Amino acid sequence: MSTIVIIGAQWGDEGKGKIVDYLTEKCDYVVRFQGGCNAGHTVVVGNEKYILHLIPSGILHKGKKCFIGNGVVLDPSGLLKEIDTLISKGIEVDNNLYIAKHCHLIMPYHIAIEEQAEKRKKIGTTKKGIGPCYTDKIARNGVRMVDLLYPDILKNKIRANLEIINFLLKNLYGAEILDEEQIFNQYIIYAEKLKKYIVDADVLINKAIDNGKNILFEGAQGTLLDIDHGTYPYVTSSNTIAGGACTGTGVSPKKIDNIIGIVKAYTTRVGEGPFPTEIKDSLGEEIRKKGGEYGATTGRPRRCGWLDLVGLRHAVRVNGFTGIAITKLDILDGIEKLKVCVGYKYGNSILEDFPKELEILQNCTPIYEEIPGWKENTAGIKDYENLPHNAKKYLQFIEDSLKVKIQIISTGQKRDEIIIKESPV
Ligand code: GDP
Ligand code: IMO
Ligand code: MG
Repeated sequence: MSTIVIIGAQWGDEGKGKIVDYLTEKCDYVVRFQGGCNAGHTVVVGNEKYILHLIPSGILHKGKKCFIGNGVVLDPSGLLKEIDTLISKGIEVDNNLYIAKHCHLIMPYHIAIEEQAEKRKKIGTTKKGIGPCYTDKIARNGVRMVDLLYPDILKNKIRANLEIINFLLKNLYGAEILDEEQIFNQYIIYAEKLKKYIVDADVLINKAIDNGKNILFEGAQGTLLDIDHGTYPYVTSSNTIAGGACTGTGVSPKKIDNIIGIVKAYTTRVGEGPFPTEIKDSLGEEIRKKGGEYGATTGRPRRCGWLDLVGLRHAVRVNGFTGIAITKLDILDGIEKLKVCVGYKYGNSILEDFPKELEILQNCTPIYEEIPGWKENTAGIKDYENLPHNAKKYLQFIEDSLKVKIQIISTGQKRDEIIIKESPV
């Protein structure tokens, strides 16, 4: 039996989907535990490209059980669209998808209020209603999956919430208000379509663990977007770190065996917020183009930068990675000199630990070590020994600095473009 948590170690889009897809082969269950359809996980199988938002990437493998845990915020309209797309591509969903009863629902008023809030204070969110939905959850006003089974409860909750939201939309934002009846009727239709998926997910997942199944927990976003440990307030509204896998599913920390940090060989970020190692000249644009660094959910260009070991050491600390997967090594092919940030300089101080203060993160200067690049192609390499000498040195530098072993190296978009140094399952 093995349980493995997959975590983004940077600001998201590290290639979690690709690694989850690869590891699913050896697993029985794949479980999402936080976030919602703000996530965009790309998996390329043969010539087909899939972008998963809410459904665990494991769904692409026949017969694997895929769970949406209680920590996720679920937009029923997004989910139904995703199910239809998968079915149209010949993927079997119905017998393999399970949704936790106590998973919270994104409502149209969450999206409406976020649209307005972003105008006042721009975080650069995906505008999927994620923050307002988690706000309602914490304020104990949330609508949960299980409420879809009880129309009276659903109606009362929508009414109570709209009283407040419509007041804000009308009086604070001068925006159009929403209609209670319309939302209720729409959600009753969703209930009909989704009720077959609703289960006591915590019970089933724990039973599976006790019965010796292999479970993969699929994180969304990344450590630096964590609501507590990220670059607040430029973060998402959930705990993206490994601990989230426990709270977001009801599985004890005692039952987690492996925690794999997914590290892109460079860094990217979408939306607003500090990014000390951002490359602002033409090389940044070159990496964006070569790496296809455009948001899988919103299509926005991703900001690109050098690898940041200060951020990664923080990620190692708060997640307790047992291993690392390096992705997109091939995108660095042909760059003459690579830079790696080993510390931050702020005023006269040298910082080795990731600062909490936004002011410092915004105004610090990265301290770089230069590492010679490689001219050879690494794209598609499957055997570690075939990597160019300097690519191995780059990887060794990362491993030595983070003191966590690199178990997997990804060298392309496709399933088999991967080097497994040591399998975590
Ligand atoms: P996720 O959100 O962490 O799952 O990552 P995204 O899917 O948003 O972004 C990662 C992108 O990089 C996707 O287009 C992947 O297909 C692609 N990708 C993943 N690993 C590799 C790799 O090793 N090399 C290349 N060239 N592309 C990769
Ligand atoms: P995956 O799972 C990259 C970013 C948004 C914004 C901030 C808050 O594909 O790695 P939100 O809509 O969550 O309230 O937006 O978080 N963000 C992501 N960036 N990858 C993601 O997911 C992201 N999900 C949210 O761009 O800066
Ligand atoms: Mg993504």
